[in-house]
Amino acid sequence: MMIDSVIEIAKQAGNIVKEGFGKHLEIEFKTNETNLVTQIDKASEKAIIDYISKKFPGHGILSEEKGNVKDGNEYLWVVDPLDGTTNFAHGLPIFSVSIGLQKNGKTIAAVVNDVMQNIVYSAELGSGSFANSKKIKVGENDQLNHSVLVTGFPYNISENPENALEKFTALTKLARGVRRLGSAAIDLCYVADGIFDGFWEVYLNPWDVCAGLLIVEEAGGVVSDFHGEEVDIYSKKFLAANKNIHKKLVEILESI
Ligand code: IPD
Ligand code: CA
Ligand code: CA
Repeated sequence: MMIDSVIEIAKQAGNIVKEGFGKHLEIEFKTNETNLVTQIDKASEKAIIDYISKKFPGHGILSEEKGNVKDGNEYLWVVDPLDGTTNFAHGLPIFSVSIGLQKNGKTIAAVVNDVMQNIVYSAELGSGSFANSKKIKVGENDQLNHSVLVTGFPYNISENPENALEKFTALTKLARGVRRLGSAAIDLCYVADGIFDGFWEVYLNPWDVCAGLLIVEEAGGVVSDFHGEEVDIYSKKFLAANKNIHKKLVEILESI
């Protein structure tokens, strides 16, 4: 089963990340000084790419730090070797390894290793979502004032905020709480697990969301853009929510 391979490498990479947490880091800046990469992002990425290349030589790979590693046949692996690098580099234990596998442009298998909680979230198209071996479901709450939501902000927010802060302000006033954990992949898994009722963010990349979106959908949640329209992993703006609150969130996100 494909999912077993995705889980296997996500666990191996998670061990590299866990081992590196709290150790001396070589930090480099990417697009600006808020956008970091460490040697651990790179080590995790190398392990994942080596594994895929050896086991599935014909498959394509798109990975955050190395970009379009190779084109392939109908399969594409979409990899975030360390989602939550800012947390990781500052000693905050909220980060993940996120790996999605697409076949002909459709995500068929997804794994997010919530490293410090020792939870491996996984989903296969049509087979539900799991936290380790436990089947998970989105929440049922339909009241915005009883909901806890989660969001994040792009690294270029100071130049290109595109309403992200206005949306944050509005929903913070309406919801019971809005959190900013710093790993979009974990945010999505916590929607899938019923911890959060909804997640939205602008300017995400395919590797941030490929696995998490399938995990939300397979847990019974709804994913869309801010207008309730269908998304793919390249859509950039995402809303993911339990099905009872999704429409209300669209109404608010559309109005700001
Ligand atoms: C980031 C995290 C964060 C989100 C950013 C992402 P990275 O990924 O997912 O939660 O707000 O937009 O870029 O850089 O830590 O892999
Ligand atoms: Ca990321
Ligand atoms: Ca990353």
